Amino acid sequence: MGEGSGFGKVILFGEHFVVHGLPGIVSAIDSATDAEVRKTGESLVIRDERKATKGYAEEKRLQQIESIERMLKTMGLSPKLPLNIWIGGSLPGFSGLGASAASSVAIARAIAEEFSLNLANEKINQIAYEAEKAYAGNPSGIDNTAATYGGLMWFKKNMTGGLDKVERLSVSKPVEIVIGSTGKVANTKAMVAGVAERKKKNPEKYDSIFKLAENLAYDGRKALESYDLRKVGELMNENHSLLQEIEVSSRELDLLVDIARKNGAFGAKLTGGGGGGCMTALAPSKELQEKVASAIEKEGYDVLRTKIGFEKI
Ligand code: MEV
Repeated sequence: MGEGSGFGKVILFGEHFVVHGLPGIVSAIDSATDAEVRKTGESLVIRDERKATKGYAEEKRLQQIESIERMLKTMGLSPKLPLNIWIGGSLPGFSGLGASAASSVAIARAIAEEFSLNLANEKINQIAYEAEKAYAGNPSGIDNTAATYGGLMWFKKNMTGGLDKVERLSVSKPVEIVIGSTGKVANTKAMVAGVAERKKKNPEKYDSIFKLAENLAYDGRKALESYDLRKVGELMNENHSLLQEIEVSSRELDLLVDIARKNGAFGAKLTGGGGGGCMTALAPSKELQEKVASAIEKEGYDVLRTKIGFEKI
């Protein structure tokens, strides 16, 4: 049996914009997906035991099978290999937390171990990127990079196919955040394609939004590195407005963002692909985190109390 694990993540700045080559900031969270792989059986069997939004496993099933075939091919194995795969771990299957990338990294590591392939992280990351294409169509690579390496990082996709720019960032102390789930499964592929389409139809509007998003990522980095959390929060709020303008937010996401802000969060925004999925709120200190989390829970939504900016789980 081979085993593997991949980090969940939260994007603090730049989702969607990163697909088009703008910088983004992502942090692993202290929840991960684990996988076990056995090369026994006659056909592909996937036992997905992750806690997940209702309908998540079913809606993602075909993309999941395609992702595993893509992984096997990238590893030089037969894409139709009959594998017995178990997926579990502490990262819930909520859209927006990089659950697909975390599972791809976990499965890639487990396959590599089962077949005694000694693969470096760079290769695992590349395999997971190929797998992400099944879920996101045209992924930036930010989710698989965070799922592979963990930590807090600055990410900028290389638009000509070369190496992406990935820099580790550090903060003086990990920061409490709250993740709120709308309970809606989102289709990242459709969300990414929608932005590209609207950008093409309305280049002037989108160019100016994209310029603002780029500035926000740089300002966000500065604020994080100087541990000015009030500023980080303000910039996250601005980032949410830009995501609303490119039409990837939703009524539920806006509602949860609003609840978080009214309960004292320093800032809140949707995180990941949007259109459902999750939002995140910056809530430094255990007390504030609890206040924001319980306010969201009181409205009937699932939350995750976690942290950003630590190195290892
Ligand atoms: C999804 O977590 C982030 C997106 O920007 C897609 C991607 O970067 O691959 C929406």
